[in-house]
Amino acid sequence: MPRTKLVAGNWKMNTTLAEAKALAAAVVAGVESDDRIAVAVCPPFPWLLPVAEVLRGSPVALGAQDVYSEKKGAFTGEVSPGMLRECGCRYVIIGHSERRHILGESDAVVNHKVHAALDEGLHVILCIGETLAERERQLTERIVQRQVLAGCTGLKDDQLARLTIAYEPVWAIGTGQVATPEQAQEAHATIRATLRHVRGPAIAEALPILYGGSVTAENAAGLLHLPDVDGVLVGGASLKADSFLGIVRAAKK
Ligand code: PGA
Repeated sequence: MPRTKLVAGNWKMNTTLAEAKALAAAVVAGVESDDRIAVAVCPPFPWLLPVAEVLRGSPVALGAQDVYSEKKGAFTGEVSPGMLRECGCRYVIIGHSERRHILGESDAVVNHKVHAALDEGLHVILCIGETLAERERQLTERIVQRQVLAGCTGLKDDQLARLTIAYEPVWAIGTGQVATPEQAQEAHATIRATLRHVRGPAIAEALPILYGGSVTAENAAGLLHLPDVDGVLVGGASLKADSFLGIVRAAKK
């Protein structure tokens, strides 16, 4: 079965409430139902409910940018997987490089969050990727393998059916320096080979792997046709409906 392509917009800590609703409405207006691709937007936490209202009845799914690993309790400031579900989220991004590198999330923390979100029935977009220093020291393969193995530790096969991995080289995020198709394909093939080795061919072939890092409407097509690229996670270019919809169109081709 061909893997369904996913185009997900990570709005990060951007948009006012009015901008978020307008952006969601413009995305909805430009996306038709299509079995071959899935489209999601991931607004900041406080905008999840109002954006869910705008997306209602449309093929555009809602995602969150992070989640906590506990169901409830004394965890001031955190948001549980169940809360995200009640807000209408289908997806949650976990282990984004900004959370790993700015907020200090470890592989273990990321793995706990992945478990908690999958247990709640959410679809997880698990982000991994090497820094520039790691790439320059030829450590890309090792880093990516470590993050895949750590992120997936202890997951059951049926949980992996709701897991998507996003390969986001840290040096490509928000820099305008997109990975070349060769770099992306090489890393994605490494990820799939790692999954094949530890979880078997059926899971490795079925699991979608997204590319993220300076994706634009102009460069998306060159990435999306690669054999192991099953979609894109888009930051900056997801904040304007026309550029995001341009990427959605590229995914349909
Ligand atoms: P960018 O961000 O598209 O702005 O590089 C991607 C991401 O962080 O997911």
